[in-house]
Formats: sequence, C-alpha cells, structure tokens
Amino acid sequence: MTVDTLVRIDIDKTVLDVIKDTAQEGWEDPFYVVDLGDIVHKYNLWKDLIPRAHPYYAVKCNDCPIVLDLLAALGSGFDCASKREIDAVLKSGASSSSIIYANPCKAGSFIAYAASMGVDVMTFDNELELQKIKKLFPQARMVLRIRVDDSKSICQLGMKFGCYEQHVPSLLRVAKDLEINVIGVSFHVGSGCQDTHAYAMALETSARVFALAKTLGFDFTFLDIGGGFPGFKEDVILFKEIASVINEKLDRYFPAASGVEIIAEPGRYFTASAFTLCTNIIAKRELSFPNEDTMYYVNDGLYGSFNCLIFDHAVITPLAYQMKPSSENKLQKSSIWGPTCDGMDCILKTCYLPSLNMGDWIIFENMGAYTISAASNFNGFEKPILKFILPLSMKSLFNFLKK
Ligand SMILES: Cc1ncc(COP(=O)(O)O)c(C=O)c1O
Repeated sequence: MTVDTLVRIDIDKTVLDVIKDTAQEGWEDPFYVVDLGDIVHKYNLWKDLIPRAHPYYAVKCNDCPIVLDLLAALGSGFDCASKREIDAVLKSGASSSSIIYANPCKAGSFIAYAASMGVDVMTFDNELELQKIKKLFPQARMVLRIRVDDSKSICQLGMKFGCYEQHVPSLLRVAKDLEINVIGVSFHVGSGCQDTHAYAMALETSARVFALAKTLGFDFTFLDIGGGFPGFKEDVILFKEIASVINEKLDRYFPAASGVEIIAEPGRYFTASAFTLCTNIIAKRELSFPNEDTMYYVNDGLYGSFNCLIFDHAVITPLAYQMKPSSENKLQKSSIWGPTCDGMDCILKTCYLPSLNMGDWIIFENMGAYTISAASNFNGFEKPILKFILPLSMKSLFNFLKK
C-alpha cells in the first residue's frame, strides 16, 4: 500500500479510538491517523484571525490528495513549486487561478507547462529568471521575492532565495526594460517561525519596496506574506500573536482601501497537528550493562516519515501504547531505531519509556508537515498508510472526499 491509499474515512471517531481499533485488529504496519476535522478547524481559525490574507496552502509540506481535496473544497488557494504539484492541485478540482507558482528558480520546461495550464502568477528574485520568463511566458504576472530576516526560524530559506532590498531597483529596471509585468512582492520569514517580530519587519520592508517600485513606474497590487506559521497542537497562542502583529502591520501599510490583494503560503500550519503517526515495535534489545538503554526498533524511520529529523530539524515526543497495559510503568532509559539496516537510522538516541514489548506501539503526534512528502522506500520499507477521521458535524464533506 502507498500513502495514497485511502483505507477508510471514519466519521466521528477520535484519534485514540482509531489507534485502539487498528491495533486490536492485528494490524502491524505503521499508519497515520489523519484528523480532517483539525484541518477544517485550522482553516476556519485562519479565516477568523487573518481574514485579509487568503491562504494558499504550500503543497510541498504534505501533498496527500485528500488534504488537497479538502483544502480545495474549503476554498483555499495553493502554493506550488513544480509541475507535479501543479498537476496534483488541478486534480483536486482547484482552478489554475488559485495557484501561485512560488519557486523563484524554475526549470524552463516547468514555466512553459505552467503557461499551458494557465498558472500565470509566479515568483522571481533574479535577472536570469526574468529573461526566461520573457522568452517562455511574457504574459506572466511576476511577484518579486525579497529577502527578509529569517534568523529566528527553524528552517532558514534566505541563503537560497530572495532579493536584497538594495538590489531591488536594478532588478526592477531590468523587468521594466524587458516589459515584464511585475505585480507585487512576496517574502518568507523561514519555516517554523518563532518570532512575531520577523513578520512585522518583513511587512515594513515590503511597504518600502512597494514605494520604491512606484518611483520606477510600477503599480504593485499584490502582496504574498509567505509561510512559517506554526502548526503544532501547542502553537495556537503563538499563532494568535503572529496574526495580531500581521493584522496591525497590514492595516498600517496595506490598508483595505489600498486595494492590494494579500495572500499567504502556510504549509505546516494546516497539516502538522492533524497527523498522528503510529509505529509498531518490531524488535527490542535489552543491553546487559547497568545504565544502558533498552533499544526499540520500530517500522518507520529516518528514511521514511522521520526524515523530518534531518530536513525539518523536527523535535519529536514518543508516546507509548501498550497492547496489554501493565501496572509496572516505571520509565526506563530507552532509544528508538528505524527499520532499515543503516546505523544512522535512529529516531531518538535517548528517551524515557515504560517497558514495552514487541507488538506495542510508539505514537508521535504533530507529524503532518514535511514527513511523508519527503519519505522514501529505502530498503524496501513501505510508507505508512493513512486512516482518516472526520467529525460527524462535518458529514457534508464526506461524500465529497470519497469522490
Ligand atoms: C516558498 C515557500 N512558501 C511556503 C512554504 C511553507 O512554509 P511553512 O510550512 O513554514 O508554512 C515554504 C517552505 O519551505 C516555501 O519555501
């Protein structure tokens, strides 16, 4: 089975019910429980808290087709970075006008493909990209990605993308000479942003770039405030603080009367907390020396979902689920390892768990962002299957998702 496999959608089950049922059924492979209601809740919360910035979900974060279907049904736009992501979004029923091609460095063939599919809003941050656009898609509506401070974010992007503010005039002059339609500005404060101030500063810089563009004969009407919004269950307060700072700065620098269209590209915000990963203990090694840890081997690892430990600098917390609950629950120093033959495939070098047996489960919450989308089948291990749940109150979405 692959991640695309829809096992079933259960209405009105809790995550724990699904875990219990699945374990009791004798299922042994790793699986995710995906709480679609959590994604709906996040969408509504976004609309309440940052109503002026329409979300364009960053597909790279988790391209699960049902998540795309659901977000399309809710009215979200999409941030795509490649031909395949554009295809996945169009397949979900979303229109090409709801896509921003937000990759400043695109292959020529991908630009031509976007043009053929009617995806005409795209980002750039360098002169050669403008020359490619001139040749391949002169009608494109281009958005200038600027570099902003991302030093407080978990994954920084500025070393790769974004035009420094001082280089904006020369780049815009090239765009003018090439008669390219530049419609506005985008930025990204870095993925997993911990700092409300970063958004404030980036919006101030954007306002300066809008003013500068005006002096060069551009009339910008588009602002893309990027991603970076936190997505863990525990992050709601931080998200509210970020929202409040953004709203204040938008009202100051880009008031509704300005007519500027504002979008954002949240990725992890929508999916992180909705996905709970359940891994099964396939082997166990107890070491003979005192103070040595108990080693648990589970059936998803660094080459699978836990690639997030490397690429996304993720911090994870294991939760134990015993098939036969024991009264002896003293925590022991333990380590958790993935299933492949690579010694590097270690999920947690040190953690504290009750004594677990083969067949018990180790569960990880907040696993919906930058996990399965970058997982491989290295060593022949399949990616986890997905089990979806939906609150009964959202039943109307059920038939739509089963399409
Ligand atoms: C251009 C762009 N937009 C949006 C995102 C999504 O970021 P996040 O998941 O932190 O919201 C990323 C992530 O790398 C990105 O590169």
